[in-house]
Amino acid sequence: MKYLLNSQEMKCCDNYTIEKVGLPSMVLMERAALAVVREALSCGCDLKRVLVVCGTGNNGGDGMAVARLLHEKGIPVDVYLTGQEEKCSVQAAAQLGILRAIGLEPVSKMPLSEYTMIVDAIFGIGLTREVTGDYAQCIRLVNESGAFVLSVDVPSGINADNGRVMGVAVKADVTVTFAYEKIGLLLYPGAGYAGRVSAQDIGINCRGLGKPPRVYTYGKEDLERLPMRPAYSNKGSFGKVLLVAGAVNMAGAAYFSAKAAYRMGAGLVRIYTGETNRQILQNLIPEAVLTTYREEEASLEALKESLRWADVAVVGPGLGRSFTALRVLEYIMKNAQIPLIIDADGLNLLAGHPEWLKNHKQQVIITPHLGEMSRLTGKEISDISSDLLHTAGEFARENELTCVLKDARTVVATPDQRLYINRTGNNGMATGGSGDVLTGVIAGLIAQHMQTEEAAAFGVFLHGLAGDAAAKKCGMHSLMAHDLVDSISEILRPQ
Ligand code: ACO
Repeated sequence: MKYLLNSQEMKCCDNYTIEKVGLPSMVLMERAALAVVREALSCGCDLKRVLVVCGTGNNGGDGMAVARLLHEKGIPVDVYLTGQEEKCSVQAAAQLGILRAIGLEPVSKMPLSEYTMIVDAIFGIGLTREVTGDYAQCIRLVNESGAFVLSVDVPSGINADNGRVMGVAVKADVTVTFAYEKIGLLLYPGAGYAGRVSAQDIGINCRGLGKPPRVYTYGKEDLERLPMRPAYSNKGSFGKVLLVAGAVNMAGAAYFSAKAAYRMGAGLVRIYTGETNRQILQNLIPEAVLTTYREEEASLEALKESLRWADVAVVGPGLGRSFTALRVLEYIMKNAQIPLIIDADGLNLLAGHPEWLKNHKQQVIITPHLGEMSRLTGKEISDISSDLLHTAGEFARENELTCVLKDARTVVATPDQRLYINRTGNNGMATGGSGDVLTGVIAGLIAQHMQTEEAAAFGVFLHGLAGDAAAKKCGMHSLMAHDLVDSISEILRPQ
């Protein structure tokens, strides 16, 4: 699991390293520049002529050091300074002095068509306001140049804290960022501007944070978190999942969720579903136990017994919004004593009964997409998508639950205010049944004794990995929930 920092946290680390550890800022700049040059030399771009566009802050200082190092290697390089020289920070002014001492005077014009690579060092984490005037014009020219673009730390114009475009932003092919990835490099639209992100260690010490950071992400190395499968075990050891899912014509939702829970390793799956789904589900997934109810009137006795049997329940996929579905949900919210994963129609029904969420007694995970989140919160979708972390975090805190807010970059917020940003997955997963698979994956992890908060975040990560494996086989256009659920076994198999 890796930390993702905001600009404030990163500045604390920078300052701690410079002031408490005693590493001079010019040494950090040199190491940052060396890392950028390494990337420039290895990224496969022809370095026939390079332009380094520098701002007047320390990001610009990094850029000037990059220009010097490239020049020392005999690579033709021009430096263009945006902003007034008098405004240069102490370190940027020092770097400019060094450049001049070796005969590299900043150019006043940029013959853009001649550059094969442009290094963008206008703004890094110090961007505080909308980009306008000459800065904005410069960024537009970089974007129109057709050159390979390498951004230093953060593409200029992207807010490092939330990924927003501050008016206009550099579209990078590669971003070399330092110490830790910044939140804005993972969240869209920033993620779309950053290109490939390369995080480089330059000796910055994270003890300066004082307390653990709030935002995390998983990587492939985290696959070792998968629940253990001891040799001396039986199906009871791997937990029982109850799915309350699938109204008339919606058997598929129950099927995908059930299959995903089994593929994830759950010991037993029971589906509490409408009577009309019995035959089709028995054919599709004979491994599942079925408890069915008549659509006009569900047997709450059977539901009660099923809840007592299970270790975790998924409520909502394809459940419908009938009066029966509402009664079932109400019973579960008021009586279940096991962790609940609530999705789809479960959430749509909850939107009309926010008091059930406020007063829940069990651990709850909700998995809304933006539309469902809008119904739950009453907020506009555009407001939610422009601040996923805040929306998910606030809802998780206010309702003491784990919120999996699904988007191109799904975020997970826990009741104790930890946040995860998921980086796996692809647009092929924007297809019917994908969310049902996610609920099954999370339930399968909880059934195998993973903590609910971790299961939510780690389940999102695994779901995305399965999506990436599926896309490799059938391409993003053709990816279906079937491919996704079948790819779970592929990503869990020891490599
Ligand atoms: N339009 C115009 N100017 C703007 C705008 C805007 N929209 N937004 C911000 N600015 C200005 C700020 O006011 C600031 O100028 P000021 O210092 O005169 O107020 C300047 O842009 C800051 O820009 P940055 O270069 O992004 O910020 P900073 O100087 O904090 O440097 C940093 C960022 C540390 C270089 C980081 O992005 C980075 O690359 N780190 C790599 C490691 C490194 O080099 N660390 C040590 C550096 S030395 C040190 O930290 C003291």
